[in-house]
Amino acid sequence: EEKQLLAMDEEKQPTGGLHFVGKKDELIKAKRCVRPVEDRDVLIIHARGRFFALDSHCYHAGGELLNGDIEEINGRLCMVCPRHKYKICVADGEGLYTATDTNENPPVKKWYSYGVKQRTHLVKEINGDVFVKLSRYPGWLESDFYQGERGKVERVKA
Ligand code: FES
Repeated sequence: EEKQLLAMDEEKQPTGGLHFVGKKDELIKAKRCVRPVEDRDVLIIHARGRFFALDSHCYHAGGELLNGDIEEINGRLCMVCPRHKYKICVADGEGLYTATDTNENPPVKKWYSYGVKQRTHLVKEINGDVFVKLSRYPGWLESDFYQGERGKVERVKA
């Protein structure tokens, strides 16, 4: 349901609020970069032929995601936070974790979701220029806590 709300939020604002973040060719070459957008730092990733944008500080304790590994988990691209190895889907910000399913015999390790934890943003490409539009999802997402100036204090404490 959270994911649906995020998608609806982005659809509601198809124009306006676009922030130029770089030339497409340069961003593809860089593969990842962080850009300040309004009150937050946004990580822009180019992987598997498309762009993704998400808050650059991890929802768990503010770790910098820029240099995390990217892994495919159940067909979904995930950023692995370098700090405590939390996995975050880059497309929708869902937090994933493994646990043992004891209902199976023998018990097996499975992937589960914590729900959407990291704010992801819309990326638009127009004539070779790339723009980010911040998610206006009104609800609280845990990554909000660690972004921007206010988040700096929390990142140091965490
Ligand atoms: Fe990212 Fe802890 S800060 S996993």
